[in-house]
Amino acid sequence: MKSLPQLVCGLALVAITPGLAGCRGSTSKESPIVGIRNMYDQPKYDVQEESSFFADHRSMRPLVDGVISTEEEIDPRLAQGRLEDQSGYVLTIPTEIVNDPKFGGMEKLVARGQARYGVYCTPCHDGTGSGNGLVKKRAVAGGATAFAPPTFHQDRIRHMPDGQLFATITNGKNNMPPYAMQIPVTDRWAIVAYVRALQIAQPKGTEVTP
Ligand code: HEC
Repeated sequence: MKSLPQLVCGLALVAITPGLAGCRGSTSKESPIVGIRNMYDQPKYDVQEESSFFADHRSMRPLVDGVISTEEEIDPRLAQGRLEDQSGYVLTIPTEIVNDPKFGGMEKLVARGQARYGVYCTPCHDGTGSGNGLVKKRAVAGGATAFAPPTFHQDRIRHMPDGQLFATITNGKNNMPPYAMQIPVTDRWAIVAYVRALQIAQPKGTEVTP
């Protein structure tokens, strides 16, 4: 035996269904029917919408010239791995980073770097830094033979200043994409520390050529 509310619901469903089914598949120039309009129409710009108010018709306003975020690191040594006079790369990881309370010393910096390296670099450079990651294997199997990350265990990269490693992560290089958007400044330095640890772990002469 059905209760009264159940019966009413059932009847209402029978009455509504043909109405809804009738709309399906047909086209209309009318705007969609929105039962409860509330905040459906709002006097605001949608993404990329043209503006009649601004002279350049852009509703998405460009930043004012010279503006920088309050959170952005502006010290070129920390933010770009470059010396203050831009004459070259910093040779070692800046002490401010190593002593950053977030890490508190080289050991913790390397541990953080290991975790971040695993997320961001292993797919291409593999866990040992020999440049034989899964992405490379698949690229080469698919015919993209030019996509071959170098091994970190070669003299050129061993002798590269820490700042240049940092800049490579920040800006990318040739086929390697930049990671400034995904990896915060301090984490990029942590990864540099871990790449150094990988190089020390595989001393010269023991390298395995991929
Ligand atoms: C999508 C694949 C990919 C990822 C992910 C990637 N790399 Fe690379 N990386 C490459 C390729 C390809 C090259 C070779 C670029 C070239 O042609 O010079 C390269 C080159 C390098 C070099 C050598 C640069 C030079 O001057 O020769 C370093 C150092 C490096 N990567 C570090 C990293 C680190 C650290 C990470 C993690 C934050 C990372 N890469 C993530 C693909 C990748």
